[in-house]
Amino acid sequence: MRPTNLSEWTSEIGGLGTLPGAVMTYWNLGTIPWDRFDRSRVDPQLLAFARGACLVEFNADTYSDYLCRVFGNDTALQAQIRTWGEEEKQHGLALRKWVELADPSFDFDHSLAVFRAAYQQLPEDGGDSVRGSKARELVARCIVESGTTSYYSALKDAAEEPVLEEICRLIALDEVRHFNLFRKALDKKYGPKEKLGFPSRFKVVVGRILETSDEELSFAYRAGNFPDEPIEQDRTKEYSKDFMRRVSRLYEPEHYRLIVGLTMKVLGIYSSQRFRTVLSHMAHRFLRYRYQATSTLPQL
Ligand SMILES: [Fe+2]
Ligand SMILES: [Fe+2]
Repeated sequence: MRPTNLSEWTSEIGGLGTLPGAVMTYWNLGTIPWDRFDRSRVDPQLLAFARGACLVEFNADTYSDYLCRVFGNDTALQAQIRTWGEEEKQHGLALRKWVELADPSFDFDHSLAVFRAAYQQLPEDGGDSVRGSKARELVARCIVESGTTSYYSALKDAAEEPVLEEICRLIALDEVRHFNLFRKALDKKYGPKEKLGFPSRFKVVVGRILETSDEELSFAYRAGNFPDEPIEQDRTKEYSKDFMRRVSRLYEPEHYRLIVGLTMKVLGIYSSQRFRTVLSHMAHRFLRYRYQATSTLPQL
C-alpha cells in the first residue's frame, strides 16, 4: 500500500540506518551527550565535513528571510519557515560546538565571514523566487532537504565518534521533517494552485540536483578548512570536484536510496522498492567513478 504519512514513508524507503521513525523530535544543545565526546575516535575527514556543514547550517538566516519574502502573504507558512530557520541554525550551533571540541583552534567567526564574503546567491530584497514561482521554490527546497537527510545519514553511519553520530542522527531526523514541511505546502497548496505538473517539477529537480555540486557546499568546505587561503571564484569547478570526490566516498547505496525515494515523492511518482534500489546502486557507482580522480588541492 502506498505510504500516507511521513513515518510510514521513511520506514518504507529505508536508508536511515538505526534511526527511529521520523516523529516530531525536539532537541537542543543540552540534549546532546557532550560528556561522551571521545577525541581518539575523531576522523579528520569527518571533522573537515563538519567544519563546512556548520557554516552552511548557521547561514540559514539568510534563507529564512528570503523564503518569508517569497511567501509574503502566507502567514501560516511564514511561521513554519521561521521555526525551520531556527532549527537549521541549531544544526549549525551543534556542529560548531562539536568541531570546537575536536579542534579548539577552529575560528568559527572567521570562517563564517570568509564563507559569507565568497558566497552570496540569494537576492537581499524583493519577494520573487529565484526559481520562478512559489511552487518551484518549494520543489527546490524539497530537493535540498532530501539531500541533507541523506548527507547527515551518511555522516552518522560513517561517524565512530559517539557525539558526532548522535548530532547527525538528530539532524537527519529534522531534515526529513523539513522535507515534509515543504512537500505539504507544495502538494496541498502551491502545486495545485500553479498547476505545476511533472515536466516543470522534473526541470526544477534536475536543476537543483546539478547545483548540489555548486559553490555553497564547496565554498563552505574551503572556508571552514582553509580560511586563510583566498576563495577564488574562477576555481569554483575545482573546489566542487574536490568536495564531491570526498563526499562520494562517504555515500553507500542506501544513502542514495533516500534521495531517490524522496525525489520520487516530489515528482509525484510512486516507485517500487526494487526500482529505487537499482537507481541507488547506479548513482553510487556513477558518482564514485566520476569523482575518483585525485584532487590537486591541498590535502588535510
Ligand atoms: Fe540542517
Ligand atoms: Fe533542513
